[in-house]
Amino acid sequence: MGNLLIKNAQIVTMNQAEEIVMGDIYMEDNIIKEIGVDIHKQQVDKIINATNRTVIPGFVQTHIHLCQTLFRGKGDDLELMDWLRQRIWPLEAAHDEESIYYSAMLGIGELLESGTTTIVDMETVHHTDYAFRAIAESGIRAVSGKVMMDKGTEVPLALQEKTVDSIQRSVDLLEKWNGYDDGRIRYAFSPRFVVSCTEELLKEVKILSDKYGVKVHTHASENKGEIQIVQEETGMRNIVYLDHLGLANDRLILAHCIWLDEEEKRIIREKGVHVSHCPGSNLKLASGIADTHHLLCHHASVSLGADGAPCNNNLDMFNEMRLAALIQKPIHGPTAMDAKTVFRMATIGGAKAVGLEKEIGSLEIGKRADLAILNLQNFHTFPSYDVDPISRIVYSATRADVETTIVDGQIVMENKIMKTVDKSI
Ligand code: GUN
Ligand code: FE
Repeated sequence: MGNLLIKNAQIVTMNQAEEIVMGDIYMEDNIIKEIGVDIHKQQVDKIINATNRTVIPGFVQTHIHLCQTLFRGKGDDLELMDWLRQRIWPLEAAHDEESIYYSAMLGIGELLESGTTTIVDMETVHHTDYAFRAIAESGIRAVSGKVMMDKGTEVPLALQEKTVDSIQRSVDLLEKWNGYDDGRIRYAFSPRFVVSCTEELLKEVKILSDKYGVKVHTHASENKGEIQIVQEETGMRNIVYLDHLGLANDRLILAHCIWLDEEEKRIIREKGVHVSHCPGSNLKLASGIADTHHLLCHHASVSLGADGAPCNNNLDMFNEMRLAALIQKPIHGPTAMDAKTVFRMATIGGAKAVGLEKEIGSLEIGKRADLAILNLQNFHTFPSYDVDPISRIVYSATRADVETTIVDGQIVMENKIMKTVDKSI
């Protein structure tokens, strides 16, 4: 660990007042110690000259599958259940330790390159330890877990687990990785979705998530076919069922949430459930358009995720932000989802979903130093300096504009080159 000084930047703080300031940021070890004009220090390990650069909080993506990065291009033009049965499940079943590791590393490289510093990740049934190794080495902040699947007639045999094994393997991974590297890595129980999990498993997940105080990360109400299966098997709407099992609380992160009735929206709001909106994936899998405008108007927690690489072909938060804004406008009007709302979802909103809003999601003294340095001087982002940088970032920035990504005060990506942080594994 060391100290680092970023000089002469435009700083998009996303603090309570959402201030944008010109100045310097000083970090000691992994913590932001000062933000101000003309900071001078006797001794610093590194000074970054950020003249004409914009510093933002690192993006927090609340739904990712690193294990699917290698499936890009192998699962196109299908709807969810066929996509899973015909493409994704057989591919996941064919993974080995090495392919999981490289799939994860490739995904992480892409995430860091495009300014994402924290992910909520769901792996496959086997070899999750190797995804955790990639996470540990890369320096990215992650909440991750092995997928749990103990039911489902069309799930390949290689991906079906006995309930007790699924739970035991999850707990073993939790005990190994939860809290690793000063809390940079955390465990989340990850039952894939109600379709592939028995009630016994989901009840045990509830008990264990209470016991260990960890997140539960799952998919819900993404596709009409999925909802129909849940209705037939449980006699209930998807999220009503999760609530019935005691799982609907502020430790639950639900990916997608497109097809919700009033009762489900009420549960999400009142129980503080976190919705991970995945607009690119929802479009490509023809799942639908989630009414995030309505959810936000009712003060629900909504953050963003790219989902797996075959769901939308890249893991880039710039794409997700832009889509999240654009798809609401034809439905609810031009101001329904403005750039600042979307940027909030991508930063502090994601931090709240992972329960780390006191540590990450904004650039403030005392918070962890997770940030990205952007060059908005490129042709496509260069209207003039009096244009709100958040509007420029949401509507015209691309991953090519990210020059440096820092997690926990360490440079993990610089000029598109990864700097792995942990060689001990
Ligand atoms: N529902 C269950 N599994 C998956 C998955 O891997 N991706 C998406 N998008 N939805 C799912
Ligand atoms: Fe997903």
